[in-house]
Amino acid sequence: MDFDTIILGAGAAGLMCAAHAGGRVLLVDHAKRPGEKIRISGGGRCNFTNTDTGPANFLSENQHFCKSALARYTPWDFVSLVSEHGIAWHEKTLGQLFCDDSAKQIVAMLTGLCEAAGVRLALETSVERVDHGPEGFTVALTERGRPLSARAPNLVVATGGKSIPKMGATGLGYDIARQFGLAVTDTRPGLVPLTFPEGRFAGLSGLSLPARVTTGHAFDEALLFTHRGLSGPSILQASSYWREGEEIEVNLLPGATPFDTLRAARPKVGRRSLVRSLDMLLPARLSDHLGEAWGLSGNLADQSDRALQALSDRLTAWRLTPSGSEGYRTAEVTLGGVATDGLDSKTMAAKSLPQLYFIGECVDVTGWLGGYNFQWAWASAMAAAGAL
Ligand code: FDA
Repeated sequence: MDFDTIILGAGAAGLMCAAHAGGRVLLVDHAKRPGEKIRISGGGRCNFTNTDTGPANFLSENQHFCKSALARYTPWDFVSLVSEHGIAWHEKTLGQLFCDDSAKQIVAMLTGLCEAAGVRLALETSVERVDHGPEGFTVALTERGRPLSARAPNLVVATGGKSIPKMGATGLGYDIARQFGLAVTDTRPGLVPLTFPEGRFAGLSGLSLPARVTTGHAFDEALLFTHRGLSGPSILQASSYWREGEEIEVNLLPGATPFDTLRAARPKVGRRSLVRSLDMLLPARLSDHLGEAWGLSGNLADQSDRALQALSDRLTAWRLTPSGSEGYRTAEVTLGGVATDGLDSKTMAAKSLPQLYFIGECVDVTGWLGGYNFQWAWASAMAAAGAL
């Protein structure tokens, strides 16, 4: 079968690109349904963009690569699309926009646009082989058990990253990139909970508090203790900058001055144990945990200014070494990917083969938590669509 464009991967980027590419488009996915990650995103409400999106919110070997696409398709462009389709949304926090009702509305909007554009959607279809010759690309597929050969001058790879293999994530995009001589930077799980030796935070499991977590970058968001380690937005954000063996720094009291609080309390409640004095600042369960972990003893009155300062420093710069991360099993994104050096930042086309495009998460552009990754998917898809 002949098409103008074959798009591999009917996720966020693939759907968006297919809807806007024009011409005869084949959109291929091995999953049963398109846009599965959109459907489960943002706790089922899809944090579909972030109004503060800028290059600084992305990790990439080339920090400048994402600029062009992001500038030409902005969060407000996607907001207009969503609003035109009658999808109600709200800002949760920090520029993060969510559907009022359901992420399924975003999937329905995109599949509706694809349908209106006459896109042929081939689901439960595996990609067996990709070849390129004088006639363009030939892709050997197996659609619901039946072989299908598709040809097109243009091929767009939108197969995402390796995160959550259970949902159908594969490294196909990286394999195709390598097949055509493009480099792929090292990939690793991003936006992922960090693990600690068993039982380390068992007694704190479920406890959440505002914190500042630093791993080069500082993120002021909620921190969540789990039975396996640390999670919550501040940790997920920090995880993208963390490398095996490194420490993370946790400020349990961002913006507060625990030394002042404890010193001021000393003449009034000096007979209180030091551990219980921490309850003025922290949840009691955490005071108990720190009391044990740091060997805190004595009453508040027994503490010199120096001792209180040392404790205060520990509370605002708690240094911890994670043993690992939860890995691709739960990571929201994959860091690294198709090296941007080989791609044209205006079109997402391979410089060495301009009919071959890479968009979305399979490219070495990874956003922070908070709607940035979808904005990259939309913007990179529109960059390619405009060039097709
Ligand atoms: P995406 O993963 O969406 O699509 C890739 C498609 O390719 C999939 O449909 C897959 O089945 C298909 N595919 C893969 N290999 C294939 C193969 N070998 N053959 C055929 N098809 C193949 N981001 C954000 O901005 N806001 C949010 O709220 C969230 N929330 C969120 C929650 C959870 C639980 C996760 C895991 C992720 C998020 N994200 C997010 C991240 C966001 O989902 C992600 O960055 C985008 O979906 C990436 O879009 P892509 O289209 O590049 O890949």
